[in-house]
Amino acid sequence: MQVVYQEIQQHLPTGDESRRLFHGRGHCFPGYEDLLIDWFKPILLITLYRSREKSWLAELIELLRAEFPAAEAVLLQERFIFTAPTCLLWGNLPVTVDALEAGLRYRLRLTTAKNIGFFLDMARGRELVRNSAKDKRVLNLFAYSCGFSVAALAGGAMQVVNLDMNRGALDLGRLNHQINQLDLRQASFLPLELFRSFNRLKRFAPFDLIICDPPAEQGKSFKAERDWSKLLRKLPALLAPGGEILACLNAPYLPPDFLQRKFSELLPDACLQTRIESGDDFPEQTPDKGVWIFHYLLSKS
Ligand SMILES: C[S@@+](CC[C@H](N)C(=O)[O-])C[C@H]1O[C@@H](n2cnc3c(N)ncnc32)[C@H](O)[C@@H]1O
Repeated sequence: MQVVYQEIQQHLPTGDESRRLFHGRGHCFPGYEDLLIDWFKPILLITLYRSREKSWLAELIELLRAEFPAAEAVLLQERFIFTAPTCLLWGNLPVTVDALEAGLRYRLRLTTAKNIGFFLDMARGRELVRNSAKDKRVLNLFAYSCGFSVAALAGGAMQVVNLDMNRGALDLGRLNHQINQLDLRQASFLPLELFRSFNRLKRFAPFDLIICDPPAEQGKSFKAERDWSKLLRKLPALLAPGGEILACLNAPYLPPDFLQRKFSELLPDACLQTRIESGDDFPEQTPDKGVWIFHYLLSKS
C-alpha cells in the first residue's frame, strides 16, 4: 500500500477541485493495475477492475480517511462485474455530488450508472475548448453529459449543438448547463443516432468547431476502425471554411498513428495544431495507449 500512499501525495487536490489521486490503469505501478482513486469533494471513489480482499480494502479506506479528513464517504465501483455496481464502503453519501473543474460544476451519477457522468481524463480537452470557443458555433458529437458544451459556453461560445443517442445522458447535460448558470437558449440537445442524422445536422451548419469524442467501441453503435472514416468523410459538409476539429481517441489497441493516418487520407486539408495527452494525473507506461486529443484546423479555401 506504500506505493498508493506515495502516489497520492503527488496528486493532492488544491482547493475544492476534483482530481485523479491514483491511476493504476496506465501500468506504472506493478500489482495495482486494477485500481483508480478519485476525489470529488466530499467523496472518494475507488474503482476496481478485479476483486480484492476485504482486509485490503479496509487498509485502503484507513489510508484515504487519514489523508482526507474532510471526506464524508468512500465509494467502491466494481468494474470487474458486468453491471459495474457502486456501493458505499464508509460514511454517508451526500444527496448530490458535483465534480469541480476550473470553476465549473458537473453533476455526478455515482450509484445509478456505469459511467459516473464525468471523465476526469478529458480536462485538457475541456480546457482547450474553453480557450478557443469564443464567439464560435460548436457541434459536440458523442456529447454524453455535455462537458464540452459547458466548457465551450463558459468560454464564450455563441451556440452549441449537442448530439448523443443516450437521452438520459443529455438530460444530465442540460442539468450541467443549469447548475453553471449557462443560458440554455445557447445550447441544443439532440437525442439521435449520429450516422442516421447527418442530413438533420446540416440544418444547423456551418460550425466553427466540431468535437468528436466517440467511444473506442460500443456494441453496434460505434467501432473505431470502422466508423472514424465514415465520420471524417461527413465533417467537411458541416464545417465552416477555416473551421476546427477536436478529435479524441481512447483505444489502446489501435496503432498510435491511427487517427493521423485517417485525417491525412480523408481530410488532407486539415492541419494538426496540437496533440495533447491527459496529463500527469494519468501516468502511462506506454503513452500511446492513453487518451489522446488532436486539434485540427481546416484550410480556409
Ligand atoms: C466517450 S462518451 C463521450 C464523452 C463526452 N464527450 C464527455 O466529454 O463526457 C461516448 C458517447 O457516445 C455516444 N454514442 C456512441 N455511439 C453513438 C452513435 N452512433 N450516435 C450517437 N451517439 C453515440 C454514447 O451514448 C456515449 O454517450
